[in-house]
Amino acid sequence: MRLKLALLASGTGSNAQAIIEACQNGVINADVKLVFTNKSTAKVIEKAQALHIPYESLNYKNFNSREEYDKAMLEILEKYEVDTIAMAGYMRIVTKQVIEKYKGRIFNIHPALLPSFAGADGIGDAKNWGVKIFGCTVHFVDEIMDNGPIIIQAALPSSCFEDTENKQLHTLEHKIYIQALKWFAEERIHILPQSRIVEILPKKDTSLQKACSNTLVYPPLEEW
Ligand code: GRF
Repeated sequence: MRLKLALLASGTGSNAQAIIEACQNGVINADVKLVFTNKSTAKVIEKAQALHIPYESLNYKNFNSREEYDKAMLEILEKYEVDTIAMAGYMRIVTKQVIEKYKGRIFNIHPALLPSFAGADGIGDAKNWGVKIFGCTVHFVDEIMDNGPIIIQAALPSSCFEDTENKQLHTLEHKIYIQALKWFAEERIHILPQSRIVEILPKKDTSLQKACSNTLVYPPLEEW
């Protein structure tokens, strides 16, 4: 099934851009319906505009509570008929109603090897802890921040902390986020029952399907 994606972002939007391009190039079987941001000045808006993706923004100052804010956001997502959410540097905790509505269909990327260094500064915390390997994680979102079942992770040696703009980490993030969403669109992500362990199902064998769809005569003609 082709996904109808919303990207939630608050910052630069390099992950959002990579995902949009992967959808537009047919790598992920999905349409990005909109980019939603809580920051009207976020750079991700320029990226959405350049790639012809609609964007919407809500200022939290206009709402009395997180619940009210998320209710308004959900109405927007409904308007765009969104069925899947990818959070890409979205610096706001989402409330239960969002997670319940999109249960099993909401993803996040975190710049650390979870479950280590959850929270707002995964890279800085890992660096200050003195880890020798750090990285990034794509996971399902549940009620607890940076906690849901892990889909894919990638690691770098601590020498890459010297790259102050974290370009190498971001490049890895883009790769694993695209891969995770591609698997999801292919219905290949399976959580083992009564656990949080994610399995990636093997690629469906399309050769048989193709062979069948090319068969115009059945029973088949015999050689003569
Ligand atoms: C990424 O490092 C991501 O892991 C974290 O926020 C950052 C967003 O970067 N959640 P960008 O806005 O996608 O460039």
